[in-house]
Amino acid sequence: MTRTPLPGRLRAPEPGWTIAADVVVVGSGIAGLTAALRLKDRLGAGARVLVVTKDRLAAGSTQWAQGGIAAALGPGDSPAEHELDTLVAGAGACDPAAVRALVTEGPDAVRELIALGATFDHDPDGELSLTREGGHHRDRIAHAGGDATGAEIQRALIAAVGRAPEIEIVKRALALDLLLDADGGVAGLTLHVLGEGQRDGVGAVRCRAVVLASGGLGQVFSQTTNPAVSTGDGMALALRAGATLRDLEFVQFHPTVMWLGPDSHGQQPLISEAVRGEGAVLVDGPPEDGGRRFMQGVHELADLAPRDVVAKAIMRRMIETGRPHMWLDARHLGAAFWERRFPTILATARSHGVDPVTQLIPVAPACHYASGGVRTDLWGRTDVPGLYATGEVACSGVHGANRLASNSLLEGLVFSRRIADVLPDELRPWASEPLPDDPRPAGLVAGGVRDALQATMSARVGVLRSRAGLDAAATELDALAGAPAEVVDVHAWEDANLLTVASALTVAATLREETRGSHWREDFPERDDAGFAGHVDLVLRDGVPAAAFSAAPASDRPAVAEPVVAGER
Ligand code: SIN
Repeated sequence: MTRTPLPGRLRAPEPGWTIAADVVVVGSGIAGLTAALRLKDRLGAGARVLVVTKDRLAAGSTQWAQGGIAAALGPGDSPAEHELDTLVAGAGACDPAAVRALVTEGPDAVRELIALGATFDHDPDGELSLTREGGHHRDRIAHAGGDATGAEIQRALIAAVGRAPEIEIVKRALALDLLLDADGGVAGLTLHVLGEGQRDGVGAVRCRAVVLASGGLGQVFSQTTNPAVSTGDGMALALRAGATLRDLEFVQFHPTVMWLGPDSHGQQPLISEAVRGEGAVLVDGPPEDGGRRFMQGVHELADLAPRDVVAKAIMRRMIETGRPHMWLDARHLGAAFWERRFPTILATARSHGVDPVTQLIPVAPACHYASGGVRTDLWGRTDVPGLYATGEVACSGVHGANRLASNSLLEGLVFSRRIADVLPDELRPWASEPLPDDPRPAGLVAGGVRDALQATMSARVGVLRSRAGLDAAATELDALAGAPAEVVDVHAWEDANLLTVASALTVAATLREETRGSHWREDFPERDDAGFAGHVDLVLRDGVPAAAFSAAPASDRPAVAEPVVAGER
């Protein structure tokens, strides 16, 4: 198991510059910008909201979202049905109160996004166009630009932030670590900024609260649908500050990611589930050469089964046939439909030499989404006073062991609104200067660990896991943690964060000795409600990840729960 202490925090801020803001929002996707916009309204005149983002505003995962945003908006649909589909996909590991908040507040949150300026697709009769994805029993996915939903939402939110001069933005700024007050609460944040004039290099922001909305950890794997910025920075930062990570083992592998060859590496092209929602089917070879569909009989929803079911079925078929991928057959949709409904996917596939109108698309599962993350309550609060988390960086409890398709954009909207509703009443007093020193040792890892780390994680902690593979991964990661960095730059910090979240994920996956949702253990192939209904919570002890299991009743059905009350923990 991991023994070498993981990279620590900067010993002291020693900032080249210091600024102040009431609230710092880390991240500029749907979760971050929604939080910033609503906080600006709720905090009132004179309050300073600062958004820091590692790259451009649109460099995160929101921009890449294809399928859409799920909400019970269609005739005949209801939050109760959306709730049931979410709980079933989550395989007994969701927090039922969080799911209820998501589905009941979701429709209004989407309407608010539309009022803000996001333009969604409409049917010829003028109604919002809704489609279906894996695990949904109703058409409830709203989409924009056919398959460019995230890009449209990102555009609308950036435009809205542009109309709000109260919101200050610092781009190309990696959040390093929290500065904590004597009581362990948030007093500030250190940043490493690249090329922003006066605020270049390492600096500090004094603040009264931090909202983490920094996205996921997909770059711990060699093949992922996540953009390059998804290096687990927010999860690692929160862990170093004393927060708890929950259910990190539940990493979702998207079943249909375009296969570009054995050596392809980094961000890979997603083929949205909505393509199957519109009628595409999985086959184990070209039908004209005897290839067959293989999802029928596996699940009542066949090719539209929940994501984990489809990913496992593809992996099984790949193993049985010895092939490195399966195929998606969407030729019958025709050129006109492809061009109107999936223009982005069509162009991307063609740019890689595959024409989905006339050819099968090679697909294989790849890392897509972290269902776990920084543990929060129903209002985005973490264990660190003054630190909130929302979106993919957080574990609010809505996704359980397997996120239902298109619930992630919705989670960002709903839980960022919730944070903005409680945070103004919970603002911490300004810390007295100087900002406190950090007694823990600083440390980074040697440059160039990233390739080795990704290879280890993909080979041993990917779709299919076993105790032997997880132990080997822990040993290999441990060796990487021992080598000191020569150069302290943004890349080195990212590597340190990747190592932290990869180690934590491996420890969590080792502890959960069962197969549930997206966590697939070859050595424990069954779901074990007697032993593992509940959560894996993980903290850092002396720099080493320490995981513990906390039991919770497993429910795939809606709980008969009281309505969620504002301020409830
Ligand atoms: C997809 O379009 O298949 C991805 C949607 C999601 O991850 O929710």
